[in-house]
Amino acid sequence: MSYILAPSLLSADFLHLENEIERINSSQADWLHLDVMDGVFVPNISIGFPVIKHLARISTKPLDAHLMIVEPQKFIPQFRDMGVSTLSIHYEVCNHLHAVIMKIKEAGMKASVVLNPHTPVEVLTDILDELDMVLLMSVDPGFSGQKFIPRSYDKVRRLREMIDRRKLKTLIEVDGGMNAERGKRMLEAGANVLVAGNYLFNTPGLVQAINQMKQELM
Ligand code: DX5
Ligand code: ZN
Repeated sequence: MSYILAPSLLSADFLHLENEIERINSSQADWLHLDVMDGVFVPNISIGFPVIKHLARISTKPLDAHLMIVEPQKFIPQFRDMGVSTLSIHYEVCNHLHAVIMKIKEAGMKASVVLNPHTPVEVLTDILDELDMVLLMSVDPGFSGQKFIPRSYDKVRRLREMIDRRKLKTLIEVDGGMNAERGKRMLEAGANVLVAGNYLFNTPGLVQAINQMKQELM
């Protein structure tokens, strides 16, 4: 099954980020997943513009930015200027989701909505046609290395049905607690994009781990 693999930089060695990006560049990874946290929407703070703009310069993989921040609409031009390809914003922070999605698309990026584990996929009924991607969280957002929530398989299946029924091209991305076995089940349930942090980085050979996950699930 052809799919997109997006290693999450959150599990990388932050003292040697250039080296980490180069390792990802040389691997069969498809996208680079960037987790942006503000300490308000989630109980953690990660990286911001001064770091991302340098990463963006050296990454040869398309940037998949996952914003875990309140008021994401304020920062759309900055993410566009840094060359972000897909911008994911959380459903839970957005009162005017349709307007913000339109702004992301007008800025020339692919627009994606993220759902927390407790948010049912059915809330997207009236916005799905506008979305390039839906990102389903399979852990509570904020940290890498958390326990996978098995109920996520069912959410992927239900969303896949909604997308196929309307003959849409919307991608389904899954993020949190991913490994090869869960990834395989997610792809069978209808996912297109797998994010993986701990599983890939907590091995001696990152490039080999990425290439193996990519090939095993093809
Ligand atoms: C969690 C982040 C994830 C995280 C995944 O809030 O959105 O992208 O890095 O890490 P793992 O794969 O270790 O759960
Ligand atoms: Zn993420």
